[in-house]
Amino acid sequence: MLRSLAPSAALRAPLSPTLSAKQKLMCAPDLPPRSKTDPTPFELTAGHEGELQAFFEANPAYFLAVQGAPVGAQEAYDEIHGELPAGWSYTKKWLIGYRDPASGKLVAFASLVSDLLARRVWHIGLFVVATEHHGSGLAASIFRGIEAWVRSNGAQWFRLGVVAGNQRAERFWARQGFTQVRMREGIEIGGRLNNVRVMVKPLADQGLRSYLKLVPRDDPALD
Ligand SMILES: CC(C)(COP(=O)(O)OP(=O)(O)OC[C@H]1O[C@@H](n2cnc3c(N)ncnc32)[C@H](O)[C@@H]1OP(=O)(O)O)[C@@H](O)C(=O)NCCC(=O)NCCS
Repeated sequence: MLRSLAPSAALRAPLSPTLSAKQKLMCAPDLPPRSKTDPTPFELTAGHEGELQAFFEANPAYFLAVQGAPVGAQEAYDEIHGELPAGWSYTKKWLIGYRDPASGKLVAFASLVSDLLARRVWHIGLFVVATEHHGSGLAASIFRGIEAWVRSNGAQWFRLGVVAGNQRAERFWARQGFTQVRMREGIEIGGRLNNVRVMVKPLADQGLRSYLKLVPRDDPALD
């Protein structure tokens, strides 16, 4: 997953997510809905660095897969405070943690960027589910909530980058309906060069051609 995505303040503008009354009952305002049995979503902000770092250290699968090394000491800080590449337009970087209501422990983390590069295109920056819950269906259930929320906010496209070779993630995203549009080679993540598969999922009835008009940088003709 491409992770170096953080805002350039000049391009920021407030977003006003609209949730149904039912969704508002199920979660904190402005956050994805969840099923009754799923963990509770909350927005991670400055001050949550220690909790997020501990979660990454306890669940290093992503870091081992993409950088071949354990979690760096600054990972959580960078996730919370890092900036998007200069000049990339967007409305908000969302950092969402999911807590197990019984233990209060963080069990999943998702970072999203709304309107990245074009209106109605939402980017998934990083999605990590605690290793002990892999293969349980929790990841897909949380993602369903995220997708419903993003759709209710008018998104027409989902976009993400998954590191080629992070097979569990590649299979997961394919199962969620993402298809590859472009392969970006030699992308530096955590000190290692990776090939990144840019994948998209249509959330409205539109073809790939209309997506590439919105986001020309994902055009496979550029490979
Ligand atoms: C990517 C990630 C969120 C996917 O979650 P996951 O639980 O591993 O993936 P799935 O929900 O697809 O489940 C994995 C397996 O369990 C099976 N499974 C899913 N739900 C199940 C259920 N309810 N009961 C039994 N088996 C189930 C799936 O069929 C799948 O089998 P397969 O891989 O042999 O085909 C998770 O692996 C993760 O956090 N990885 C580390 C971070 C990362 O790499 N993130 C992605 C960055 S792009």
